[in-house]
Amino acid sequence: MSTNGPVRPNTRKLLIRTWGCQMNVYDSGRMADILAPLGYAPTESAEEADMVILNTCHIREKASEKVFSDLGRLRLTKNERQAEGKDTIIAVAGCVAQAEGAEITARAPWVDIVLGPQTYHRLPEMVARASRAAGAVIETDFPAEDKFDHLPEARGNGGPVAFLTIQEGCDKFCSFCVVPYTRGAEFSRPAAAIIAEARQLAANGAREIALLGQNVNAWAGEAPRTVSGESPGGNTHGNTWRLARLLRELAEIPGVARLRYTTSHPRDMDDDLIAAHGEIPSLMPYLHLPVQSGSDRVLAAMNRGHKADLYLRLADRLREARPDIALTSDFIVGHPGETAKEFEDTMRLVERVGFAGAYSFKYSARPGTPAAGQPFPVPEAEKDTRLQALQALLRQQQDDFNRACVGRVVDVLVTGTGRHPGQVAGRSPWLQPVHAAGAAPVGAVVPMQLRATHPNSLSATMVLPEESAAA
Ligand code: 5AD
Ligand code: SF4
Repeated sequence: MSTNGPVRPNTRKLLIRTWGCQMNVYDSGRMADILAPLGYAPTESAEEADMVILNTCHIREKASEKVFSDLGRLRLTKNERQAEGKDTIIAVAGCVAQAEGAEITARAPWVDIVLGPQTYHRLPEMVARASRAAGAVIETDFPAEDKFDHLPEARGNGGPVAFLTIQEGCDKFCSFCVVPYTRGAEFSRPAAAIIAEARQLAANGAREIALLGQNVNAWAGEAPRTVSGESPGGNTHGNTWRLARLLRELAEIPGVARLRYTTSHPRDMDDDLIAAHGEIPSLMPYLHLPVQSGSDRVLAAMNRGHKADLYLRLADRLREARPDIALTSDFIVGHPGETAKEFEDTMRLVERVGFAGAYSFKYSARPGTPAAGQPFPVPEAEKDTRLQALQALLRQQQDDFNRACVGRVVDVLVTGTGRHPGQVAGRSPWLQPVHAAGAAPVGAVVPMQLRATHPNSLSATMVLPEESAAA
């Protein structure tokens, strides 16, 4: 298979709908890159799309049900287009495809392609087969070859923020989670390939690079053969680098003003990675570190492999290394067997840590996961009550965090124009959306004074060079 052949003119339209995590956003971009040489140009309209890809998420029940309702609507569009003599290829990608491939083709026989996250490099071949075949093409194996070796170079969308997948899969098998089954075993890309991709992204205009992985801080990649300006140190194990070492290398790439990584597991926050937060200026003071629960018994039932105390110590050590670091997290309430007292332990942990933001969910039983078979399910109404209490506390903490930022002068990465004329929009080091009156080129990092909080953003004023020199 080759995607490097002659580029066809843009004769066909491609619609990709993406649900779920940043990994899916990244994968959607790569699928668009792969299909571009076949003449597929992006569209937002299902009516004009010759191919529709639903890139799906299986993490909670609601997410996967949405796929089936979308497929119902697409069936009508496909029929209408067919009446006009136009073919439509419908593909389901992502984790629902991986987990429910057979069910999709049974429930929605108008789907032409079902492809798991490890088989995107085979898309052109599948498209060709689907155009010829009567039945659906299903590709959900975990192939022996590495999909990253076959994907075309990531081009990025030319915007100032780029995502770069460095690790995929998960070996941790938390009781509630489908990821080890849908994304497979942990796999780390070699450092050289990541560095080359980061350089390319920077050359295409990326100023902020977010490294992605289901277990990104478990990354343990093959070290490059030679590194220019190699300075020994950092945690290198023989021929393998850990994440802190990679971050130090990426920080040297000209043009890369900001680095982030997500999503991390508390068990993999090693000493060097904590230290890196204090030592790499371009590593943003922000870390998403899911804890899920504050109860040791529930954490054990979840098979998280750590206690609440480890999390508290990590929070303290990260703040010692980087005092302005903002921590965010994920929580699940109502895991089977969670008592009211154990839920209170989660509330105490939240109070003790103080989060700048968080995602919290009611436990949702996922077929095939160990928790789905555990006794003592928590009644739905009780889950609702707990979720509301937790979310009220988390919202309060987020508001407190945002209000505490008012008055500070911070670097804002300009990402575009604001909603109102004469405004620029950007993001703070803590990922807060910021808008300010004035003009600045996209990709510029502009000092701004944060002035007021709004429901989903902060307003700011640009700080003129003389003011920032005097500050
Ligand atoms: N039920 C509820 N929430 C879940 N998550 C993962 N699986 C489930 C589930 N079965 C949440 C976890 C994870 C986030 C991505 O989704 O909090 O960190
Ligand atoms: Fe799922 Fe746990 Fe792996 Fe995260 S660490 S992806 S929650 S199994």
